[in-house]
Amino acid sequence: MGLKAQSPPPAHAFAREGRPAEEVGDSMKTRIAHLLQRAMGLDVSTIGRTGLEHAVRSRMNACSLSDSESYWNLLQASHAELQELIEAIVVSETWFFRDREAFDALGRMVMEEWLPAHFNQALRVVSLPCSTGEEPYSIAMALLDAGLPANRFKIDAIDISARALAVAGAAVYGGNSFRDRGLDFRDRYFRPVKKGHELTAAVRKRVHFRQGNLLAADLTTGGDCYDIIFCRNVLIYFDAPIQERVAKTLRDWLAPDGILFVGPSETFLIRSCGFVSANYSHAFAYRKEAAPAREAQEVPAAPRRKSKPAPLPAKVVASPVVFPQPKEPAADAEAAVPPAAALESATRLADAGHLKEAAKACEAYLRADAASVAAYYLLGLVRGAMGEDRRAADAYRKVIYLEPDHLGALTHLALLEQKSGDAAAARRLQSRVRRLDR
Ligand SMILES: C[S@@+](CC[C@H](N)C(=O)[O-])C[C@H]1O[C@@H](n2cnc3c(N)ncnc32)[C@H](O)[C@@H]1O
Repeated sequence: MGLKAQSPPPAHAFAREGRPAEEVGDSMKTRIAHLLQRAMGLDVSTIGRTGLEHAVRSRMNACSLSDSESYWNLLQASHAELQELIEAIVVSETWFFRDREAFDALGRMVMEEWLPAHFNQALRVVSLPCSTGEEPYSIAMALLDAGLPANRFKIDAIDISARALAVAGAAVYGGNSFRDRGLDFRDRYFRPVKKGHELTAAVRKRVHFRQGNLLAADLTTGGDCYDIIFCRNVLIYFDAPIQERVAKTLRDWLAPDGILFVGPSETFLIRSCGFVSANYSHAFAYRKEAAPAREAQEVPAAPRRKSKPAPLPAKVVASPVVFPQPKEPAADAEAAVPPAAALESATRLADAGHLKEAAKACEAYLRADAASVAAYYLLGLVRGAMGEDRRAADAYRKVIYLEPDHLGALTHLALLEQKSGDAAAARRLQSRVRRLDR
C-alpha cells in the first residue's frame, strides 16, 4: 500500500454513459472504511479520507454508478467488486533489493548460522506481502549469491492483490523496479526485452506465488514453520489491534530460530509485539522473544522490559543489544555523559521501548548539539511511535531543513502529511523521494 489512492481517478475511469460519480459523503466513507478494515486490515487514516474517496469514485465510475448508496449495495453483494476496490486502494510500491542491508544480512545469517545447523533440509522463506514480486525475487538472488544451492531453499510469496501477482508471474520489470544503486544483479539475472528486463527462469522457479489475505483465518504456511519471514511495509497501514493480530500470526509462523524482516518504519511496533532485534545493522531483522517474556506481554498497558534474545552463535553476537535498566533514565541521559554516548543511550532507550525517556534523551542531546540530524531523526521516530504525529512531523521537518535529501525523514513526513489530510504536501514530499531514489 502507499500513496496511489491519493491521485485523482484516471480519465478512462469515468462512466462511459451517464453522470460521473457524485461526492461520497462522510458517513458513507466511514461505512466503506470499516468494510475495508474488516476485509484487509487497512486503517484508512493512514492513507487519508481523500485517498479513500478517490478510490471509491474511480470504482463507481468504472461500474457506471453515480450515487454512493448504490455502490455500497453493490459492495455488499459482490465479493468481486470488493476485490476491485481493494485493488484500487492498495499500491504495490516496491523495488528490487529495497533496503539492501536486509538482503546482505539474510545471506550472512543463512550461510553462517542456518546452513551449518540444518543438514539436508531446505530453507523455508515467505515474502508476505510480496506485491509485484521484486522482494521474493531479490530474496532468491541474494540466497544464490550467498552460495546457497537452488535446491536448498523454497520461497512462498503471498499478496492480496491479484493484479500485483500477475505482474510478479510475468517477471518483466521496468526502470522503477531497479532503484537500488548497485545494479550488477540485473546483468547477471535478467535479459533486456522490449518492455524492460525479464528475469531468468532459474530465479523465477524458486518462488511460488499465491493470493492470500494476511488477516484470513485460512491463510496457512502450507507446511512447516518458516525459517525466514519478510513482512515489510504493510503493518504501518494497520491499526494497533490488527498489527498485534498479524504479529501473532508471524510469531506462529516463524521457526524458533527464525528471522523476521520488517520495514524501517515498523521496527518500533514489532518490538512491542513479542520480537527482539536480531542485531543485524540496518537490516530491521527480528527474532521471537523468549517465551516467558512473551507471556508477560499479555498484560496490556504495563511498559515491558525486553528480555535478551536467545543466545546466538558467537559469530553473530558481534554487537549484542544491551538493554538499559535505567532507574532515572532522563537524569541518566542528561547528566555528564558526552553527547555521542547520550545519543547512543537514547537509541538504546528507544530500542528497549522506553519511548518517553528516549525522547527526553534526544532533547537533552539537542540542547548540546542543536544541528544534529541523527538526534532529530531519532526524535521523529520516537514521537511517531508514541502516536505524537505533530511533534514527529516537527522533528522530521528539522531533519529536512538540516539535510534536504534525507530520504527517511522525507518518507516519514510524507506519510504524516497524508495522515493529517494534507494530500498536496504528501505528494510534494513523495515526488522528492522519487527524484532522490532515481
Ligand atoms: C508497499 S507493498 C510492500 C511490498 C514489499 N513487501 C516491500 O516492502 O517492498 C504493500 C503490499 O501489501 C499488500 N497488502 C495490503 N493489505 C494486505 C493484506 N491484508 N493481505 C495481504 N497483502 C496485503 C498490497 O497489495 C501491496 O502489494
